[in-house]
Amino acid sequence: KLPLKVALLGCGVVGTEVVRILTTRADDLAARVGAPLEIAGIAVRRAGRERDIAVDPALITTDAQALVSRGDLDLVIEVIGGLEPARGLILTALEHGASVVTANKALLAEDGPTLFAAAEKYQRDLYFEAAVAGAIPILRPLRESLAGDDVTRVMGIVNGTTNYILDKMDSTGAGFDEALEEAQALGYAEADPTADIEGFDAAAKAALLASLAFHTRVSIADVHREGITDVSATDIASARAMGCVVKSLAICELDEATDSVSARVYPAMIPQSHPLASVRDAYNAVFVESKAAGQLMFYGRGAGGAPTASAVLGDLVSAARNRLKEVPGVGESSYTQRAVRPMGAA
Ligand code: HSE
Repeated sequence: KLPLKVALLGCGVVGTEVVRILTTRADDLAARVGAPLEIAGIAVRRAGRERDIAVDPALITTDAQALVSRGDLDLVIEVIGGLEPARGLILTALEHGASVVTANKALLAEDGPTLFAAAEKYQRDLYFEAAVAGAIPILRPLRESLAGDDVTRVMGIVNGTTNYILDKMDSTGAGFDEALEEAQALGYAEADPTADIEGFDAAAKAALLASLAFHTRVSIADVHREGITDVSATDIASARAMGCVVKSLAICELDEATDSVSARVYPAMIPQSHPLASVRDAYNAVFVESKAAGQLMFYGRGAGGAPTASAVLGDLVSAARNRLKEVPGVGESSYTQRAVRPMGAA
């Protein structure tokens, strides 16, 4: 079989791991897909940078737009993040006939419908398992494995940085600032940790979870958001005295009576006996309740190069198999637009 051509947009922490797996596991991946996956180009911001992986310099380009416009690509992986230029590059890639795998939660939660419509129009796949909870397979289970069931509620610990901070405060009695400093020193929180501690990162993920769980469209603007910056050592101690822990939860609910959905992110007290209470350190977990399956829990690493690359590569194998069989893209077209309830409304 002829190789499938893969382009990579971005070669940071996740991109480097993706390249490493694509090159070192090439034979196994080829066997699983049914054809070899050939790296056709890697778009980066700065070409001369030292990388901790050997890459043929001829593959490196700083012109991402030209790369996705080539017309001979089968698959494009976007791991640049942020709204632009990622949005334009993904749209161009789809338009030129490539299927796309992305980890870009911010973009999908802001403007998913535009991207889904383009995937639909050009009949290509748009997969994004890595966008929510890193390595944890959660989007495909919601979209596919549970598609014959009715999910009623999803509760997730979907931000590792805030879980690390709250867990540290709980286990050591540390204050918020001290715990944040430790999270930064360990490389969990960004130098500017706003997206994590103010809940923007979790809100984007909540929008995606709600969209897939309830087969509807929810955008980040619909998600009620509260960060963890006001949680004090005293709050944590009071929760503990009541047999509870404080966790930053993304909660997505379906209200059947009104056929509406809601999504919110906030620091919540949960009983120490709840499965989510045992999620420590920077781990993520998603607790799903559905009518037929009952309660399910998905647990694992929500960030980091290798765990996120695992999810990206899984999507890549699926999209590659579809390309080989010429299956038109997995659309997001079959959905029902449900009302989205603001927080607190009946
Ligand atoms: N900053 C995020 C986290 C990374 O802490 O979970 C993954 O989106």
